[in-house]
Amino acid sequence: MLIPTGVLVADARAAGRAIPAFNVITIEHAEAIVAGAEAAGLPVILQISENAVKFHGNRLAPVAAAAAAIGATAGVGVSLHLDHVKDLDLLDQAAAHGFSSVMVDASRLPYDENVATTAAAVERLHAQGLWVESELGEVGGKAGDPHAPGVRTDPAEAARYVAATGVDALAVAVGSSHAMTSRTARLDHDLITALRDAIAIPLVLHGSSGVPDGELTAAVRAGMVKINIGTALNTAFTGAVRETLAADESLVDPRKYLAPARDAIASVVARLTTLLAGD
Ligand code: G3H
Ligand code: ZN
Repeated sequence: MLIPTGVLVADARAAGRAIPAFNVITIEHAEAIVAGAEAAGLPVILQISENAVKFHGNRLAPVAAAAAAIGATAGVGVSLHLDHVKDLDLLDQAAAHGFSSVMVDASRLPYDENVATTAAAVERLHAQGLWVESELGEVGGKAGDPHAPGVRTDPAEAARYVAATGVDALAVAVGSSHAMTSRTARLDHDLITALRDAIAIPLVLHGSSGVPDGELTAAVRAGMVKINIGTALNTAFTGAVRETLAADESLVDPRKYLAPARDAIASVVARLTTLLAGD
């Protein structure tokens, strides 16, 4: 069933848990994420990034409709989140396509411009009933960005930023980096605690694929609530495709390699969702 992101995040926070947000690229991703969440018996956030929309020919409607339909028939709570949005026109399409939340990504801009861009977007998006996440202190590793695990969000600046923008959740730089294919990131747990104590809204961890299990559970204990995971799913998906194709060179039916790839994502989702719930 579809539930607003703000409700899922608030429920997780009240229970001292984290909720994972998994990136959807294809319809098989959405099916697999929901299958994994159902296997774990826990809610999940389906997030579609601006880059994924670009991949679909700059068309939000088809991939959003698929994710919404899959979420609506799920046996667990599922929300739809539009992720890493820099294109302000795309933000204004979110509510009409079933999203209950968005991430306004002005993290590459200098502080004052990040505040101005985000505050203006928040005012408009709140009027449309959307829950809004933004980022302060750029988490590196996005396409074209340098891998910058050394960047950190300052707690005092974060407090000023939250007051000035009115955002509902804040993505912070605490040691993770996007698109890591090895789980070797080390997080600054004292900083996570300081950020949690400095601001009243939930914290979001990006680039979580590169974060090992122990670091993830410690980050949740320290105050992380929404945990964004993308690359780990693609590693599992593509690995299964590669293995299936390598085993049979005569194979041409995509269902024969997409089915194991989808199962591989579902297993990763079930495992991480359970881990983050602390059960
Ligand atoms: O917003 C999406 C996430 O930050 C995913 O990062 O692909 O490194 O897990 P990841
Ligand atoms: Zn991210």
